[in-house]
Amino acid sequence: AKNVGILAMDIYFPPTCVRQEALEAHDGASKGKYTIGLGQDCMAFCTEVEDVISMSLTVVTSLLEKYKIDPKQIGRLEVGSETVIDKSKSIKTFLMQIFEKCGNTDIEGVDSTNACYGGTAALFNCVNWVESSSWDGRYGLVVCTDSAVYAEGPARPTGGAAAIAMLVGPDAPIAFESKLRGSHMSHVYDFYKPNLASEYPVVDGKLSQTCYLMALDSCYKYFCHKYEKLVGKQFSLSDAEYFVFHSPYNKLVQKSFSRLLFNDFLRNASSVDDIAKEKLGPFSTLTGDESYQSRDLEKASQQVSKPLYDAKVQPTTLIPKQVGNMYTASLYAAFVSLIHNKHSELAGKRVILFSYGSGLTATMFSLRLNEGQHPFSLSNIATVMNVAGKLKSRHEFPPEKFVATMKLMEHRYGAKDFVTSKDCSLLSPGTYYLTEVDSMYRRFYAKK
Ligand code: ACO
Repeated sequence: AKNVGILAMDIYFPPTCVRQEALEAHDGASKGKYTIGLGQDCMAFCTEVEDVISMSLTVVTSLLEKYKIDPKQIGRLEVGSETVIDKSKSIKTFLMQIFEKCGNTDIEGVDSTNACYGGTAALFNCVNWVESSSWDGRYGLVVCTDSAVYAEGPARPTGGAAAIAMLVGPDAPIAFESKLRGSHMSHVYDFYKPNLASEYPVVDGKLSQTCYLMALDSCYKYFCHKYEKLVGKQFSLSDAEYFVFHSPYNKLVQKSFSRLLFNDFLRNASSVDDIAKEKLGPFSTLTGDESYQSRDLEKASQQVSKPLYDAKVQPTTLIPKQVGNMYTASLYAAFVSLIHNKHSELAGKRVILFSYGSGLTATMFSLRLNEGQHPFSLSNIATVMNVAGKLKSRHEFPPEKFVATMKLMEHRYGAKDFVTSKDCSLLSPGTYYLTEVDSMYRRFYAKK
């Protein structure tokens, strides 16, 4: 199979959200901390009728219907998620309800978990399958689904929720350059979920920021090395049109891109312009560790990378800023934003993605885009996803109502023997919702 990659995509996020400006005031944080400091506008969250399973049922059904894919045509289904509902039974098995109905139970794949990286692991599994000798000619389907919630405190505004589905196959408009991948994996306690009775992570915020940037540097180094070996010339930011980052909050994405520019400067100063050379010069002798702590470097590199950021990154930031951190779906929601904003200009362009999952696992990889053919064309993908429509039809909850929802969800997490309000009035038609968890912890869903 040639040009294996993503043929079709769809995204779902809850219609319920809270404004960061309102949350900031409610939390007693200084004005601008969440909006300018973190760079976030809005945060989506699941109410008691939605969870990672309902969101993934919704997005998979929607993708199959909108692109007219016969469920029998799916040969592999992989889910990436870090939201634990069951320690044994995979989310994939819940999704099998859709396929069993059509008589298709011959579907490989289960769930992949490591913080925000599981979706990338799932995607690589599907791409590798289509490229392998065990491929049976059918499509792969990848689902990234997460509800990111934090305990009260500084991390709470960096939550979010969404599910994304991606159809994988040959001759894709979004093709993998499979040889161009750089990974960095190591053992760190930056963000983890050791308390199985709680949905909330244990997080060392500052450490997680540094780990993210260190992993980015390392992946970029390996990526550039492989590019040079393969292409025979040095890689620099000018060799890709867009850069897409895992987006816990927008400020970290800004810092990440400026860090790549600093890397370019260190490797080959002639690849950056004169102003950048002059402003970054004083920092060229810092050790790695010093460079992560230097506020002056952060400021200088953000300043000199601003025009490039506006061109190469800004178009990817819409959904992460509006919805928040969607964990496994976060990187792909940034990519969806790019398709939404630029679908008519992407043909022939290279796009670099950086996936990060705490703990930690990270990969930088490369996609090559072409217009594709209906229904698997960039323009049709943009139309089907209807990002503007979905953002516009949301309902803003006041912070008090958001906090009350979080409290209720704390009680519901891991609980049995309850029925939900079954109130689906805010959900759009076709959305799945949770109706009941019975005395055996079995979960029941209905479709609006
Ligand atoms: N106006 C403008 N900016 C402000 C204001 C204000 N009133 N107040 C603060 N800021 C700025 C700060 O200067 C800082 O920006 P800087 O880093 O450019 O200096 C930013 O807002 C955040 O303020 P901090 O004091 O650093 O925030 P705090 O430490 O309270 O929390 C954190 C931020 C650590 C990101 C927290 O939200 C968190 O732990 N989140 C979860 C972990 C996370 O997302 N990690 C990222 C990678 S791992 C993953 O994906 C889960």
